[in-house]
Amino acid sequence: TDIELGDYAHYMLKEIFEQPNSIENAMRGRLDEDEATAKFGGLNLSSQQLRHIDRIVLTACGTSWHAAMVGEYLIEEFARIPVEVEYASELRYRNPPLNDRTMIFAITQSGETADTLAAMRECKRKGHPTLAICNVVGSSIAREADGGVYLHAGSEVGVASTKAFTSQVTVLTLLALFFGRMRHMSWQAGRNIIRELRTMPEHVERTLKCHDVVQEIADKYHRCSNFLYLGRLYNFPVALEGALKLKEISYIHAEGYPAAEMKHGPLALVDENTPSVFIVPKGGIYPKVISNLEEVKARKGPVIAIACEGDDRIADLADDVIYVPETDECLQPLVTSIPLQLLAYHIALLRGCNVDRPRNLAKSVTVE
Ligand code: G6P
Repeated sequence: TDIELGDYAHYMLKEIFEQPNSIENAMRGRLDEDEATAKFGGLNLSSQQLRHIDRIVLTACGTSWHAAMVGEYLIEEFARIPVEVEYASELRYRNPPLNDRTMIFAITQSGETADTLAAMRECKRKGHPTLAICNVVGSSIAREADGGVYLHAGSEVGVASTKAFTSQVTVLTLLALFFGRMRHMSWQAGRNIIRELRTMPEHVERTLKCHDVVQEIADKYHRCSNFLYLGRLYNFPVALEGALKLKEISYIHAEGYPAAEMKHGPLALVDENTPSVFIVPKGGIYPKVISNLEEVKARKGPVIAIACEGDDRIADLADDVIYVPETDECLQPLVTSIPLQLLAYHIALLRGCNVDRPRNLAKSVTVE
């Protein structure tokens, strides 16, 4: 079964290495090359209803909330539908003005998170189409939703979510494509996304080759007590997720920030012992992220860069570099998040932490 550990030391490591497959499984049967769109069996809404939607709310907790943030950027970019991302624990007690053209997605690996379930029920009570993006088949949220999309990532055992995150991002990319193609997106643009998605499992496989380099970097920095994670646009949620991974399993304090915001606070934390992880792959905003990186270097902060293969400038600017394959900007989170998972894993190991079962945390939080 997929919950045997095999040759891996921990479930978390096994699950990180499963990602070429789990991403493939999230796309299986859902790409329609001819129509240049995605297709889903279980949305349970008519195309008329789907076209009527003029606002989407994504609600989740923890890592799933970070996937939702990537989803917001994707859906707004591809489909031009306004999206809001809400912590389920907040949404359930708020009274946001939703109307009958608002669609809700609850995003959850386990399908059992109490706050996510309660937020979903609250939205259903008010009559909004409420769908789930969920991994565990037959879970409470999957059963109560009006419809939804399964991740098919296989069981995730490590408390810190890894493969579920990339599967959620993959499914949200497909949804963005689907809504986009019902609205403004051209056939050609849809085809380009599909082509990039098709090569994603290979890109991820190649990204995993950074394992040795990441181990060396972990060795160098594992005694630090603070880390910053900085990225912009699609890589801002990746920065949040990288920081969360480190916090969860190594108990090191880490903060994720949009790189340009650091001058409004976090820059004050930078010193020789506070590494900054910069997610700086190629893209339109690359020079801007580099200038943020240089500001950190000027304050003597060590910089670990996640950059694209072929970036021949970055090695001179950063102390350490982890290279990832180049892909479309909007799909970068699927590759850039992977070295951050490995970095958290190795730092936690070196600090003697229980990576699969971190203290005080639970795999699914079934209490409020
Ligand atoms: C817990 C887990 C996290 C997870 C979060 C949301 O905090 O430790 O890894 O991201 O719950 O879980 P869900 O199953 O709803 O995605």
